[in-house]
Amino acid sequence: MRLILRVNGEEHRLEVEPRRLLADALREDLGLTGTHLGCEQGACGACTVLLDGGAVRSCLLFAVQAEGAEVTTVEALSPGGVLHPLQEAFRDHHALQCGFCTPGMLLTAVDLLARNPAPSAGEVREELSGNLCRCTGYQRIVAAVLDAAARLRGARPAAGAAAGAAAGWADHPPQP
Ligand code: FES
Ligand code: FES
Repeated sequence: MRLILRVNGEEHRLEVEPRRLLADALREDLGLTGTHLGCEQGACGACTVLLDGGAVRSCLLFAVQAEGAEVTTVEALSPGGVLHPLQEAFRDHHALQCGFCTPGMLLTAVDLLARNPAPSAGEVREELSGNLCRCTGYQRIVAAVLDAAARLRGARPAAGAAAGAAAGWADHPPQP
């Protein structure tokens, strides 16, 4: 069937089977491989994208269900290579290791911060509890989301990267 998908501000015309999953349409038909597929059954959150601003599992939606909506994938967070404050904070706090869960974590956090610009650590944990990470232990992810929230509110300048670079550990800060 013919389908028009609006993704990251661009309209795409696709010919897909009705059973085509949104995740597969994004990855295989549009080449947007930043959306990761882990469990493919709604349990891990790696495939999270935004549908009209709300976080959804793209492995649990058919592509046709996204017609008429605005889909946002992780690729939209850094237009022209300029990192989103959340991405800067993840980098600065060493909140990713293999990075497999990271796109889902980022988009879940984008949704959270749009609804709640000043979440508590407990609220961040609650919101991210549906996203599984095998590497980080979550503490650094929570710290990164809280820091990004402060940066987005203007409460703290995005100076972590500069300070980290000056100290020589921007990408790999020392472990506690
Ligand atoms: S791949 Fe969709 S929730 Fe795991
Ligand atoms: S960074 Fe590896 S799964 Fe989260």
